[in-house]
Amino acid sequence: MRVFVLTGAGVSAESGLGTFRDADGIWARFDPMKLATPEAFATDPAMVHAFYNLRRRNVIDASPNEAHAAIAKLARHGDLFLCTQNIDDLHERAGSPSVHHMHGELLISRCAFCGARTEQFGDLTTDDPCAACGRLGALRPDVVWFGETPFDLAAIEAAAVQADLFVSIGTSGGVYPAAGLVRLARHHGVRTAEINLEPSQIAGAFDKRRYGPASIEVARFVAGLIG
Ligand code: OAD
Repeated sequence: MRVFVLTGAGVSAESGLGTFRDADGIWARFDPMKLATPEAFATDPAMVHAFYNLRRRNVIDASPNEAHAAIAKLARHGDLFLCTQNIDDLHERAGSPSVHHMHGELLISRCAFCGARTEQFGDLTTDDPCAACGRLGALRPDVVWFGETPFDLAAIEAAAVQADLFVSIGTSGGVYPAAGLVRLARHHGVRTAEINLEPSQIAGAFDKRRYGPASIEVARFVAGLIG
């Protein structure tokens, strides 16, 4: 069975990484238009770096939870296409071998001048040189900001429509094109399931729904699929 899994911030919530749209979420405390757009970076790159530096340190300090582990178990068992909106590396650290980061990765920097991508574990500043071209001040986190196109979208959409089962985990369904994948998959006859703390904004698009903490519900779901 080909399984397509889409994860969002809820899968990493129990690892201590904040979600975005919950009452105490990241976008309740910070204005995304001032921190997560190309215009924000052009206006105040130091402030944008400070925001992502803090988030990078949080990711490095976090550990995968039972939900990441269950998804890695599913990956070892068979045909899994794992797509995440998360910019952390917790799926990889839990053992998932292939992760499609549609919103990019925080532990990679990208040179806006030459496009080179480099592992980034430390803080980024506006003075850092690019390791490839030497240009100063052109490095940015390799993440997708509002107004930018998600990575790998054609491959992600192709995998979603070819799956036998589409599973959405820990996402509010508020950000497109990720939130549109379930309807695309359904349109092609794919069975769909949602696992979330509460019904998402697009809960009606799922055939099956399970509500509760991802660490418990994803582990149960995977056990039900593969025994
Ligand atoms: P959201 O913060 O919008 O939604 C997180 C979802 O996870 C909510 O529906 C919560 O109810 C649920 N949740 C919280 N804790 C959970 C738990 N322990 N177990 C299961 N579910 C839980 O995050 P995303 O949907 O991932 O994009 O947000 C999508 C995109 O919006 C992000 O990738 C980011 C953000 O702006 C960019 O920065 C481009």
